[in-house]
Amino acid sequence: MNNFIFQVPTTIYFGEGQLSKLNRTLKEEGKNVLLVYGGGSIKRNGLYDNLMSQMESEFNIFELAGVEPNPRIETVIKGAQLCHKHDVDVVLAVGGGSTIDCAKAIAAARFYDGNPWDFTSDSRLVSEALPLVTVLTIAATGSEMNGGSVITNLETKEKLSFHSRHVIPKASFLDPTYTYSVPEYQTKAGSADILSHLFENYFNQTEDTMVQDGMAEGLMRTVYHYTPIALENPEHKGARSNLMWASSLALNGLTGSGKAGGWSCHGIEHELSAYYDITHGIGLAIITPRWMKHVLNETTADKFAQFGHRVFDLELEKNPMDTAKKAIQAVYDHFVSWGVPMTLGEVGIDGSLLEEMSEMAIKHKALNVDTYVPLNKEDVWSILKESLTEFKI
Ligand code: NZQ
Ligand code: ZN
Repeated sequence: MNNFIFQVPTTIYFGEGQLSKLNRTLKEEGKNVLLVYGGGSIKRNGLYDNLMSQMESEFNIFELAGVEPNPRIETVIKGAQLCHKHDVDVVLAVGGGSTIDCAKAIAAARFYDGNPWDFTSDSRLVSEALPLVTVLTIAATGSEMNGGSVITNLETKEKLSFHSRHVIPKASFLDPTYTYSVPEYQTKAGSADILSHLFENYFNQTEDTMVQDGMAEGLMRTVYHYTPIALENPEHKGARSNLMWASSLALNGLTGSGKAGGWSCHGIEHELSAYYDITHGIGLAIITPRWMKHVLNETTADKFAQFGHRVFDLELEKNPMDTAKKAIQAVYDHFVSWGVPMTLGEVGIDGSLLEEMSEMAIKHKALNVDTYVPLNKEDVWSILKESLTEFKI
């Protein structure tokens, strides 16, 4: 295990009814609130009205509505202008990863004179940020409990991130009952994203990380157990609660600290989202089994076999390669059983730009340097080409 510093200052208010503590939390930061939200789901499920009736009399509320899935840099700039104009004290993000990421960039842009897109090439430009409070409405990214933000620039076809401790939310409210309305497609995508965060940290070259791996395996089992239940019964409180808490724990540093190295599938998926504006989690589900197959070799087989044994209860066979292959097939089969579209064609992506996206993935994420198994452009291209056809290990 490597050295690390672990600090997550976010206060989590988890459970039904916890929103009653929101005013108290916001008051600590000031009176002028920028409320940031997405395309209207919070109006349809009653959350917006609940928030307004609770907050209206105590705060000056300014709104930035319409944050896009895969949030755009233009929306960040609009939000930062509102903060200047209204002397905003605190940003309140109500929504999923896109809304929260956009709010993080806004909070940081408030104190930056240049174009906030600059953050994506140098996170150190974030020297200060407005305090951020979130109300999470979908279990997926973990943005509610980390310092990452992913922003899209459609003009340059780039989807890039920045990371800063200044934008880690002060507090996040996780009421699973507000995820009952998450559509089936987004529920699957969210679970695929949680799993991918766990996989990206789990399949890693650093040795002796039993603590992190054990926690990751427990969270993976949780996601595999509860996703079909949430899909079958969207108002199953136990399922929604477990998925929600798993989303936060999967990417708050718990399973990644003490490990070296970069991620692979996210680097590839962000190119798909940047070029085709697809749903992040669905892109990950399509790529993941192909990536696993591509990096499976005599050296990595043991870890894939361990994963299959501990997460899917597969029997450990004499040759780890046999168990490893079954584990990778199981990853694919689970996504199929949830009804996830599992080829690029099904999400509107053909073969025409695969080579260009492969080049960009290497350029943006240095996948050829310190990943579990380093990938060059040809490797990425091959993974993407495999993603056009039906999977077979
Ligand atoms: O926009 P609204 O109307 O709110 O609808 C959203 C959106 O259409 C809908 N939704 C969310 N909660 C709902 C709901 N619909 C009904 N009821 C609810 N309770 O779901 C759709 C997707 O929302 P979005 O915020 O885009 O989803 P998600 O949380 O998956 O966020 C994805 C974004 O986060 C980035 C992704 O790349 C993508 O841009 N990521 C952020 C990370 C981070 N900050 O740590 C890490 C991740 O790996 C990821 O890259
Ligand atoms: Zn992700």
